[in-house]
Amino acid sequence: MKDYQAITKFIRELYNEPTGFIPLHAPTFNGNEKKYLNECIDTTFVSSVGKFVDRIEKDIAEYTGAKYAIATVNGTAALHIALLMSGVEPGDEVITQPLTFIATANAISYCNAIPIFLDVDKDTMGLSPEALEQFLKRNTKWDSQASKRINTSTSKPISACMPMHTFGHPCRIDEIVEICDRYGIPVVEDSAESIGSSYKGKMTGTFGKLGIYSFNGNKTMTCGGGGIIVTDDADLAKKAKYITTTAKIPHPWEYRHDIVAYNYRMPNINAALACAQLEQLDGFITNKRETAEKYRNFFSSLNPKSLTFNLEFFVEPKNSYSNYWLNAAILEDRNDRDDFLKDTNENGVMTRPIWTLMNKLEMFKDCQTDSLENAQWLVGRVINIPSSVRI
Ligand SMILES: Cc1ncc(COP(=O)(O)O)c(C=O)c1O
Repeated sequence: MKDYQAITKFIRELYNEPTGFIPLHAPTFNGNEKKYLNECIDTTFVSSVGKFVDRIEKDIAEYTGAKYAIATVNGTAALHIALLMSGVEPGDEVITQPLTFIATANAISYCNAIPIFLDVDKDTMGLSPEALEQFLKRNTKWDSQASKRINTSTSKPISACMPMHTFGHPCRIDEIVEICDRYGIPVVEDSAESIGSSYKGKMTGTFGKLGIYSFNGNKTMTCGGGGIIVTDDADLAKKAKYITTTAKIPHPWEYRHDIVAYNYRMPNINAALACAQLEQLDGFITNKRETAEKYRNFFSSLNPKSLTFNLEFFVEPKNSYSNYWLNAAILEDRNDRDDFLKDTNENGVMTRPIWTLMNKLEMFKDCQTDSLENAQWLVGRVINIPSSVRI
């Protein structure tokens, strides 16, 4: 096995952790978390209504520049509702990327819709606008009666396109939205990983008809478990709030509901944590960007000297400002990658390979794909390395 000790040593120094376990991402609670949580307990507002739920919706809208935000119980629920709000119906198809966390594809299945997996760009790891345009040009036609884009090989409507900003790095979202506009397909941005990242000066999550963020424990800001939908569409925002709160017809004492809906609301106690974390988000991102810079410098100083393996740090794509949620590197040789993972994990430094491609999983193995050339190239080479905020 090759010598990866220099990397382990560097990561240990970076995190000032000489012997203990170093995770990929751990949360930091250094602000008003306890104060706001105590307020929930003291006032007994720990559940589905409360001032922190209203506040996080207002604060996220303000932070991202979206007009409206709707807090949910997690990012997956936010994705499910965003897809429904964009018009996805049972039997429809949704274009997405195969290089993503399972929640992206699961949310499509929750709508009883079917994913189509198209290739990603190597430099963003997000959906490729070229692959998207090629697919739409060759495989679809416009049904003017139904006002829908039809997949000519399945005769099913393609009712949404859901790109993902991988590890916090923005994909070419402006081009994707422009293409989808031309082909009459709404865009839902899976920005679960990219809160605070921007592309050409605009926040990821705010390019599409709807976007979502996750506040899971491993994300740049966390509230334990939580998510949020953002949109500029007042009508969709109202519907999203209604459907995530059991579709209860407003009334001071009567309980009446007019559709089968969901209990997807974020509890006030989680919203309290989210408010405290959002206050610190810009500081977290500055800290994470400094860490990324240190990794970049270290790996570029290492490569010319160490000819035993070729490892390149993944830097934010052009025109973007990334939150560097999870730092990634590319190990050119697959055997080196496997050795690297073994060596670092055995030495208490957590690293992992990128996700298995969605089309390789049993539930999605029959879904339509294009060549997936870049996704397949990346899947054997990308690794994640520790990325927590350093305190
Ligand atoms: C790309 C992506 N989409 C969706 C989710 C779902 O978010 P949650 O875990 O909050 O349900 C996550 C993260 O967990 C994610 O990484």
